[in-house]
Amino acid sequence: MKITIAGTGYVGLVTGVCLADIGHIVTCYDIDEQKVQKMRQGISPIYEPGLEDLMKKNIEEARLFFTTDPQTAYEDADVIYIAVGTPENEDGSANLTYVEETALAISRYVIKDVIVVIKSTVPVGTNDRIQALIDKHKSPEIRVAVVSNPEFLREGSAIYDMFHGDRIVIGANDEYAASVIEEINKPFGIPIIKTDRRSAEMIKYAANAFLATKISFINEIANICEKVGANIDDVAYGIGQDKRIGPHFLKAGIGYGGSCFPKDTKALVQLAGNVQHKFDLLESVINVNNKQRLLLYTKAKEMFGALAGKKAAVLGLAFKPNTDDIREAASIVLIDKLLEEQVDITVYDPVAMENAKKILNDSVQYARSAVDAINGKDMVFIVTEWEEIKNIPLSTYVEKMKEPIIFDGRNCYSWQEAKSYPVTYISIGRGQAG
Ligand code: UGA
Repeated sequence: MKITIAGTGYVGLVTGVCLADIGHIVTCYDIDEQKVQKMRQGISPIYEPGLEDLMKKNIEEARLFFTTDPQTAYEDADVIYIAVGTPENEDGSANLTYVEETALAISRYVIKDVIVVIKSTVPVGTNDRIQALIDKHKSPEIRVAVVSNPEFLREGSAIYDMFHGDRIVIGANDEYAASVIEEINKPFGIPIIKTDRRSAEMIKYAANAFLATKISFINEIANICEKVGANIDDVAYGIGQDKRIGPHFLKAGIGYGGSCFPKDTKALVQLAGNVQHKFDLLESVINVNNKQRLLLYTKAKEMFGALAGKKAAVLGLAFKPNTDDIREAASIVLIDKLLEEQVDITVYDPVAMENAKKILNDSVQYARSAVDAINGKDMVFIVTEWEEIKNIPLSTYVEKMKEPIIFDGRNCYSWQEAKSYPVTYISIGRGQAG
């Protein structure tokens, strides 16, 4: 199979590399010449564990190619995956400009029958509309079938998820096209669900909305736990043992971030609104998350009253561990609030510092290590649960801070352990230790 991937963001690149690794000939197309030059040398534009090794291997074995030329990319491909971005419009809806531009380019360049797979997260009905758009612009003797194949990759474990995902969803109105995409994916050995295009599109939104709901739910329970003297770790474990609930995605914290949940939940509310359905539940999930992201700031404010002139360290900037992605990260929301209060801030993250600098510039100081960041501070905010950050012994805080106050937004330490140190330890859903 000759496969082209349009768009080398994290979904496109990971998909392309893994499809090459199971034996397909894959060309990744992107308009960014510099990025393509680097990728040809096996250099990934994103931090994703295991990705560069797999890129290098498949480039060497001549299955993985990169181009900026749309003709080379589309002309004689058997299957073209569209994996370009769908950024958020001002009203929360998904912006489909890049998907449509790609569809038009495909119509212009293809010279034989082709299957177009939409990987990008798109509102229900988009696959139908893209089919109509391509049909209108392609030459009449060529057949093009549009297939929905949403992704369920988590940043930071995207390669693992490609090979060990729970399911692959294929939404097609054409039996033959569905069977080709099924065949392409067979070597992954993952259960395949075949459905129509609209249901496939909805599965993607519903999955992310449900996961976001689980997080906001457990965060609300955590907030109540604090007030009634219960421990959220035990409560989450206790409910998670019920198979109907399940143990995953019940980690209380300072809310969800990243490029997917915040955007996709808003887009689904918007989509529902378009068909006159007010999605009250999901609106609440979003509101709870917005409040939760301010929680550490609120707690610090309650403790100190005025924060001006205080010295604070923020440990972890990425929206979650194992990524350099800071889009919609809780860290940025917290830092903005602390800056408003004129707090003197030092930040540290194992890999997201460069990305953070592009946004925060010189409004904060950048430490070379977590320990450097903590040194001499009035308070520390733990925002991302990187292993490196979780492994800092509590004794280090005692040594490096005069009166250690830790606001832990990811419950990195056991509450019992924290109680045995001379630290003021404020976490989520577990009462205060110290
Ligand atoms: C998410 C989904 O998990 C993927 O299945 C989906 O493919 C992807 O969005 C997407 O739509 O592209 P991702 O955003 O990479 O993946 O990260 P997650 O691991 O799902 O975490 C999202 C956020 O939820 C993070 O900020 C994380 O800290 C938070 N979270 C997660 C919690 O606060 N508690 C939990 O129990 C789990």
